[in-house]
Formats: sequence, C-alpha cells, structure tokens
Amino acid sequence: MIANEFIPKPYKHLLESGVVAYSAPSNIALVKYWGKKAHQIPANPSISFTLNNCKTSTMLTFERKTSKGFSFEVFLDGELQEDFKPKIEQFFSRIEAYLPFLASYHFRIETSNTFPHSSGIASSASGMSALALCLMQIEQQLNPDISKEFFNKKASFLARLGSGSACRSVEGDLIVWGTHTNIKGSSDLVGIKYPYAVHPNFKNYCDTILLVDKGEKQVSSTVGHNLMHNHSFAKQRFAQAHSNMDALISVLKSGDLTAFISIVEREALTLHAMMMSSDPYFILMKPNTLEIINKIWAFRAKTGLHICFTLDAGANVHVLFPDNEADEIQKFIETELAVYCQNGHFIEDKLGQGAQQIKI
Ligand code: DP6
Repeated sequence: MIANEFIPKPYKHLLESGVVAYSAPSNIALVKYWGKKAHQIPANPSISFTLNNCKTSTMLTFERKTSKGFSFEVFLDGELQEDFKPKIEQFFSRIEAYLPFLASYHFRIETSNTFPHSSGIASSASGMSALALCLMQIEQQLNPDISKEFFNKKASFLARLGSGSACRSVEGDLIVWGTHTNIKGSSDLVGIKYPYAVHPNFKNYCDTILLVDKGEKQVSSTVGHNLMHNHSFAKQRFAQAHSNMDALISVLKSGDLTAFISIVEREALTLHAMMMSSDPYFILMKPNTLEIINKIWAFRAKTGLHICFTLDAGANVHVLFPDNEADEIQKFIETELAVYCQNGHFIEDKLGQGAQQIKI
C-alpha cells in the first residue's frame, strides 16, 4: 500500500453545499503506539479494542467558497471552540493532497462526545475519526464509485494524519495499525481489522474506565511521542512491541486469559515507564492510579477472576474483563474502586463494532 493510492482522480463537478454526519468510537490499545516517525508513521505496531459507548458525533455542514485557504469553525456541544482550530488546520493541511476539495468549502464542524469533555478521556481518536469519515462522505458524493472497503481504508488513512490512534477508530472490534511481519495486510498507513481467529473469551470484552483525574494532561501525547526519538530504551521498546504482538496472536487464538493479562498490563506499565525515563521525564499516573492497580491485583489473587488494567497517556484506568465475569467484577468496581475516582465517576464500556453514519 502506498499513500498515492489515496489521491483521487479529478472531480467531475463540485457540490454547492450539503450536510454529512458520522459517529466514531474511542479505542483502547492493548499493545501501545508510543513513538512515531515523520508523516504520522508509527515507530511500532499496535493493536486495540474498539469501544462501543465512548464516542464522538460530528456533523459537517459545507458551502462553496471562492476565497483561498481553509475556512472552518468548530463547535463542541454548541459552543465555538477557538482552541481546537490549530489542530484542525494542521489536519487539513496534511490531508489536502488526498482531499483536494478542502479549500473549496467553508465548513461548520459541530461535534459532541458521549463522555464528558473534562473526563480526561482523549477525544482525539474518536474526534479525528468522525471528522475523517464526514470528509469521506463528501468525497463519496463527488466520486460515487468508491467501495465501502476503500471508504473505510481511506477514512482510517486520513484519521491517522489527524491523530495516530484515530486510524484504529473506524472499524471494530480488534484493530491493528503498523506493519508487523506476522500480521497479514498490516500497514503503517491504516488500521486494519485483526485478520486471525479470536477465541470467544474475547467476545464482548468489557472495559470500565475509572476517571481518576479529569484535568488536562500536563504533557500531550505528541510531546511524549517525540521524546521517544532520543530515548535510551527506544530500540528495545519497539522490539518488545513487535514480540508482544506475536505473543498476542497466539493468546487471542487460544483464549488464554492469564497470558493476555500479562501482556496487557506489561504494555501499560512499559508505556508509563517510557514516560518516566524520557528526557525530560514526566509522570502521568496519580496516587489513585496506583491504589487502583494494587486493589485489582489483590482482588485477582483472591478471586482468580480475570480482571486486569491498562492505561493510556493519562491517570485514568481502563479495567478490562471478560463478559462472563462481569457481574462480580462490576460489583467490585462499584464498591472498592469507585472511591478512587473523581466524584466517584466511571464509564462502563465494552467492545464495539466501529463508526456509524448518522442519517440526517
Ligand atoms: C498512549 O494518537 O494521541 O494512547 O498521533 O500524536 O495524535 P498523536 O498521538 P495519539 O497517541 C496515543 C498514544 C496512546 C497509546 C495508543 O493509543 O496506542
């Protein structure tokens, strides 16, 4: 696959105006993307669960214009967001070669999340994916021959250029991004559906997100990725991600939950270990993140249930567990873990099937 295959042939005509809308889910990585090269190429392959309930809905209204350059306004829950503009401006300039109509329209971007904006849950994956899908819907109106498969592939390609992990938020329920020798079809350019057998143990896997810290992160993911460039452990870390992907292939097939837990928790802690050993170093976990991890370990040792945790680039904890153990584990979360969350807040989520068009 090469990027040039996403450059469209000249459009026969342009539309005067229109409205499109999409909702796209968030995702949680099992093997983490941390470190990237130019043009949003990941330093190592990653794999994620697509979520079901945490999502962004975006409506894009477009109207022909004659002035030069990009023109758009962004609203979150009906409120104008000036601070979203630089990221979208950068996104548009990265994708203009692949969507040459971009500068021909003024866009009104109206977006909302199912999770609270101030939850500390990153909305960049679901947000960039929803926006990329809306833009693809316009492209499809200009070029109706596009197949569903190409539509999703190009949406993932574009979303990656907005935010790397967003390319894993187009489809469900297990998505691989980044070239891996033993995963057929894997690519640095797009997320693909995991192509091999998955044991029923992983069907409807649950993810309860414990909102430990709802504040803005002190260090953005983009800064963190860049700190991997001169990181003393970068080479070993990227090699480890490759071997953890290999290990996951057999675990996903066999349904070995104990081995799954060991890979997933090690990935989460390695991600944070990379942050804690970069130059400059930083810590995104909070005291309650560690309290929760220790409680999970004690509960797992006591009950033998297959509860585990993962983290993204923040203090919140994703608690992962199989569907058939959900009753007991959810009770444990409510009684023992919710106290460590800000205002007792957590979000119950599970594996999902990917983005959906919103009919207007
Ligand atoms: C820790 O996708 O937010 O969540 O490409 O700079 O937008 P940019 O980074 P982003 O990084 C997410 C990193 C992570 C791990 C993961 O989701 O794989």
